[in-house]
Amino acid sequence: MRQSSLVVIANRLPLDDNAAPDGACEWRRSPGGLASALHAILEQSPATWVGWAGGVGAAPALPDIGSLRLQPVALSAEELRGYYEGFANSTLWPLYHDAVQQPTFDRGWWETYRSVNRRFAEAAAQVADRGAAVWVQDYHLQLVPAMLRELRPDLLIGFFMHVPFPPPELYMQLPRRTELLRGMLGADLVGFQREQAAHNVAQLAKKLLGAVATDDAITVGGRIVRTGAFPVSIDVAEMRALASRPDVVSQAGQLRHSLGEPKRVLLSVDRLDYTKGIEHRLTAYSELLRDGFVKVRDTVMVQVAVPSRERVESYRGLRDRIEGEVGRINGEYGRVGEPAIHYLNQPFSRSQLAALYQTADVMVVTPLRDGMNLVAKEFVAAREDGAGALVLSEFAGAAAELEGAFLVNPHDVDGLKATLLQAMEADAADLAARMSAMRRHIAEHDIRAWARAYLTALDHSGRLAERLTAP
Ligand code: ADP
Ligand code: F6P
Repeated sequence: MRQSSLVVIANRLPLDDNAAPDGACEWRRSPGGLASALHAILEQSPATWVGWAGGVGAAPALPDIGSLRLQPVALSAEELRGYYEGFANSTLWPLYHDAVQQPTFDRGWWETYRSVNRRFAEAAAQVADRGAAVWVQDYHLQLVPAMLRELRPDLLIGFFMHVPFPPPELYMQLPRRTELLRGMLGADLVGFQREQAAHNVAQLAKKLLGAVATDDAITVGGRIVRTGAFPVSIDVAEMRALASRPDVVSQAGQLRHSLGEPKRVLLSVDRLDYTKGIEHRLTAYSELLRDGFVKVRDTVMVQVAVPSRERVESYRGLRDRIEGEVGRINGEYGRVGEPAIHYLNQPFSRSQLAALYQTADVMVVTPLRDGMNLVAKEFVAAREDGAGALVLSEFAGAAAELEGAFLVNPHDVDGLKATLLQAMEADAADLAARMSAMRRHIAEHDIRAWARAYLTALDHSGRLAERLTAP
């Protein structure tokens, strides 16, 4: 087996389901922050990505994508249910997102989560060169760092949590809380989106493990585990290049034309997930229509909601509720040829997304809780014209960085309505100043800056960062 000096482990491999006719694989930018973030830095790198190839049964043999090697991990149908749909996405995901949906604690899922984590750790141990760096991603694989350390004490192990890490009072509900904490602390460096998360982990390490802990270092089992905040970002250069392409600019114009040249376009782009606050947003918009603050003839809302985790019951129920509500709003307020809400339940290419972002007067990003929210940053990067307003939830990690946004508490429907109106009615000079501040920020804090900061903290020699983030 070929060995790598850098191994990334993430639940999902970033490959196209349909290999090209010549058998070559292509990146599949599956909707989701993790794939978007890692795309830019791994596309050209000599590394190995260990992950699930999608589907069940034997792992397929996969060709490399450029210099990136793919190491698939097989999952059976039962493992997919217990590990991915169950413990990862029905227990940890809702709990880590403020329990905005009640987490399910099913005792049967734990063993599967553990054995699948073990399989990922073993796969990485096989392909990692002596002394290699292994970078484990996200809540699906929280036990992997400690398992890997046991298998291969020679490795440098990093862990990055893309989603929020909850406050102790919520985390304490987890039946397997101590094992999960120990698992993550098997890493040399544990990175989060926000400093608050590192603080939460330090509190838990003291309480559950009796560790000596500060917000940037935890001493456990005689080792020092460093922790810290590394807010993830996007490939700003890629989005800016797309947004400046003449065909994309003209596509944006065509989209606006197809929408009936309204005075204002409101846009939301989300995975269809209950953490994204889509229902609260629809309620706010429907009340603005009802009370006559917004008129269908001059304002249009576009909601892109790409299907996600559709085999999980709570996601199916959400889709039914949202589609029912969009139907009701269109039935009540739409006119012939003029729906109040254009609802698109499909994936888009990067250039289509860049065109959509340019079409929006107001981008509405109102998750109830979100680790970061890259859509907000993509919108800002796509606004080469310096125009457009961003309405952003206080509960998205991005709110700590994008100071030019109109911040809002999405649970407060009246506040949300008022903020939407404020953004719709803001004057052009105010919007331009806000947008310019946000664009400056993301230009300096793009995905390469994120990887550089994390990898330099992991490997002080700086060699790893240099290899992965060379322009
Ligand atoms: P999450 O990781 O929870 O899905 P983020 O906002 O951080 O949320 O990341 C979502 C990513 O998925 C973004 O890069 C966005 O461009 C992409 N995405 C969202 N909706 C679509 C869609 N309909 N088609 C293609 N990509 C999408
Ligand atoms: O960013 C959070 C995240 O869970 C990522 O790990 C993942 O890429 C994305 O959401 C999409 O979820 P899934 O892989 O379950 O489709």
